[in-house]
Amino acid sequence: MSEVGNSPPEVAVGGGSAPAEGSVSGPLVSARDLALGYGSEVVVSGLGFDVDPGVTVGVLGPNGGGKTTLFRALLGKLAPVRGILRVATTCSTVPQTDRSRLDYPVTCLDVARMGSLAGLSWWKRPGRREQKASMGALEAVGMADLADASFGDLSGGQRQRVLIARALAAEADLLLLDEPYSGLDAPSADRLDHLIVELAAEGRSVMIATHDVDQTMDWDRVLCLNHEQVAWGSPGDVLDREVLERTYGGQIVEIPGHPGEGVLPPHHHDH
Ligand SMILES: Nc1ncnc2c1ncn2[C@@H]1O[C@H](COP(=O)(O)OP(=O)(O)OP(=O)(O)O)[C@@H](O)[C@H]1O
Ligand SMILES: [Mg+2]
Repeated sequence: MSEVGNSPPEVAVGGGSAPAEGSVSGPLVSARDLALGYGSEVVVSGLGFDVDPGVTVGVLGPNGGGKTTLFRALLGKLAPVRGILRVATTCSTVPQTDRSRLDYPVTCLDVARMGSLAGLSWWKRPGRREQKASMGALEAVGMADLADASFGDLSGGQRQRVLIARALAAEADLLLLDEPYSGLDAPSADRLDHLIVELAAEGRSVMIATHDVDQTMDWDRVLCLNHEQVAWGSPGDVLDREVLERTYGGQIVEIPGHPGEGVLPPHHHDH
């Protein structure tokens, strides 16, 4: 368990003993009065939410709203400016920028293996366990057949899946996918939808940063960020016109499932 914050740790309610090493009871992530930023400048504040195991969370917001910043904090790369962030599990991410960057000549299996190495001490060579974890992860995303293919020759959707395999090979219970749909065609996006649902059914939690309101309707929870937490809850309950306007700064958007009633975010550029 990692806990970062400059306030005293939360006291467990009920006075029970701490969970045994390796077992997770209660939420995987808890944020309370959390403010995040760079140096002393706060870029997103008022964060308060719990993510339970097996839950899919859409993190919705405009460019610069604070989605990637939240992911950095969850990965332990950014200490809170204020408040408490408890992360009771291993987190793994598919960053916003990696799909185009990994163009040097490596195979899909090499990329997946990078994830399995994350838990390995520096003096150990990767062995059968890491090999198995990497191949298993490629199987889970439907890319085992292309294990020996060059990563640089893959399509965007295939690369996305291999990068998810890399995150899975790290044996993380919380996956952070930063705008994983950008650049995917409809069939690849459908595949990714199914994969996210399968991962959650296995008990993993998945947080997905997106600009797209429609996508978030399929997930269990939505977290709306626009420099502050605008809303948190199940999408059907919280995504109304007022919340969408506050999330997107008053721009007119249409509420999925309620044509004519409201409001869709205008096109936001992909990265
Ligand atoms: N390394 C950094 N140093 C200083 N400020 C930063 C840094 N990274 C991001 N910011 C600022 O933090 C704010 C939130 O950025 P962040 O990248 O979290 O937004 P985002 O919601 O992920 O946006 P996008 O949809 O464009 O990916 C922005 O104002 C951005 O300029
Ligand atoms: Mg971002």
